[in-house]
Amino acid sequence: MLYSRLFLPTAKEAPKDAAIQSHILMIRAGLIKKVGSGIYSILPLGYRTIKKVENIIREEMDRIGGNEFYLPVLIPAELWKTSNRWYDMGQELYRLKDRGEQDYVLAPTHEEVFTYILKDHLRSYRDLPLTVYQIGLKFRDEIRPRFGVMRGKTFIMKDAYSFHPQGDAESLHGTYSDMSGAYRKIFQRCGLETVPVAADSGAMGGSQSEEFMVPSTVGEEEIVQCRGCGYVANKEKAECEVERIDYKDTGPAELVETPNVKTIADLSEFLKIRTDHLIKTLLYKMLDERFVIVLIRGDLEVHETKLKNYLGVSEIEKAAEEESREKLGIPMGFVGPIGVKGAMIIADHSVREIKGGVTGANRVDYHYKNVSAERDFVPETYTDIRVVKEGDSCPKCGGSLSMFRGIELGHIFKLGDKYSRAFGVEYLDEDGSSKVPLMGCYGIGVERTVAAVIEQNHDDDGIIWPISVSPFHVYILPVKYEGRVKEVSNTLYRELSSSGVEALLDDRDERAGVKFKDADLIGIPFRVTIGEKSLESGKVELKMRNSKEPTYLKVEKMANVLKNMVGEELAKYR
Ligand SMILES: Nc1ncnc2c1ncn2[C@@H]1O[C@H](COP(=O)(O)OP(=O)(O)OP(=O)(O)O)[C@@H](O)[C@H]1O
Ligand SMILES: [Mg+2]
Ligand SMILES: [Zn+2]
Repeated sequence: MLYSRLFLPTAKEAPKDAAIQSHILMIRAGLIKKVGSGIYSILPLGYRTIKKVENIIREEMDRIGGNEFYLPVLIPAELWKTSNRWYDMGQELYRLKDRGEQDYVLAPTHEEVFTYILKDHLRSYRDLPLTVYQIGLKFRDEIRPRFGVMRGKTFIMKDAYSFHPQGDAESLHGTYSDMSGAYRKIFQRCGLETVPVAADSGAMGGSQSEEFMVPSTVGEEEIVQCRGCGYVANKEKAECEVERIDYKDTGPAELVETPNVKTIADLSEFLKIRTDHLIKTLLYKMLDERFVIVLIRGDLEVHETKLKNYLGVSEIEKAAEEESREKLGIPMGFVGPIGVKGAMIIADHSVREIKGGVTGANRVDYHYKNVSAERDFVPETYTDIRVVKEGDSCPKCGGSLSMFRGIELGHIFKLGDKYSRAFGVEYLDEDGSSKVPLMGCYGIGVERTVAAVIEQNHDDDGIIWPISVSPFHVYILPVKYEGRVKEVSNTLYRELSSSGVEALLDDRDERAGVKFKDADLIGIPFRVTIGEKSLESGKVELKMRNSKEPTYLKVEKMANVLKNMVGEELAKYR
């Protein structure tokens, strides 16, 4: 490609809303352009990289027997009503109507569509297992789109789904493991170091899941890790050992007047009692208007995602003051589990051992003291809903937990039969009985992967592409594109191009300084500088984007040497 023909709007300045390096560099290097909040266009240079990432994904999916589809994104709402997600997905789902007032969704994932398509074709146990996938657009009305393409309202995802005989956990596990292996391969081929974070999501009936994280200070995910035994888990799922606290039974529960004392801190101060002896009571509301009272030790916080997972709902919110009055008859600050009616009660594990505790008395300006869990109230269940913090104890070995931040690039999990059952998918088993297949589901964010590559591979001057996903392999930089320099540049360009090396020839009538700056910014791994001076001694200068020191190539040999070097570099990512 000739630079003069390429649409490549590089920029010196970063846009004001770009807060992280990948976002800044993707815009400055002319890879993307913003169209609206969370909506980005991919420009030609960016699309070259996107296609490379897609192809790596495609090759690895095909290698494990994936069937590639191309699916619509505009989906009749009926399919989403069948799975029930039309009702319980909440506001992330884009819903729209056509001129005939029919409901549609813009798909945020494609479980429904694939299950619908395959329903008529999975007839016999011989049709299983089956793995299908697509690389296509997704739409999600994210609350906080940010960091450029990291979290967009529309983005490209590879999503795969697998179908297995019911009761054949081994078949499902086989594909799940193949995917896990393929993901490792994919990210490695993109030049990324990822950490697979495994998690058993209890809410889904012991099903397994694994997220692929790129450690990064700008990551939105918090990952909990034990250096002692290697336990790693997303903070949304990480558990910890409950501290042993020396609780003493202080006698029967007793009302105490606590005028205007509502918060945990005030209460601790007012009653001169440690916060780990307080039972915090929170009221949450679900989309279907059901309320739930949540109990946790006073010094801990509730993780709302854990709570949602436990309840099996996609959205939950803290009840408003007047809702608490309406539903429970008292304002929030004085709610407690003893004798309360109007909502189910669930408690964190940390509450189970509490004796001599304090909790709201369901009466304005009163609390109970000397409260014992189990004796004075019995929640529907004790479960893990606490926020795990740095220094908490590892659930496996008791060691101290630490935290790091990461970007989630991919997610694989065992789905069970939620969708196949909802869509009435049935196959005839070997024994002649009719059964519902099990499913697995596996996603990778394509643009987010590209952004993560840049987060991990850049310096102050710009991007440093791993060659496997670089828009071009070689940047040819004639210091002044004229005379003998032009001739040699053209020859190199022709020879590289004809042997399959992707070269970008900077044929612009620009100052050398501008060209060097742009070359560093867009980050192509090999840069060949051709100038009059070095030509006098029959040489051109080669500099790798990731090193400071140049080397020199003889003009007669430059194309061949480069071709081999590029080949070797590419081979590292195969
Ligand atoms: N809004 C988005 N913009 C860009 N990529 C996304 C977005 N949401 C998800 N992805 C990508 O799609 C992959 C699979 O989607 P999945 O539904 O598992 O994501 P998710 O759990 O909603 O992710 P997140 O927790 O970041 O919202 C993610 O691992 C991520 O790489
Ligand atoms: Mg999400
Ligand atoms: Zn441990």
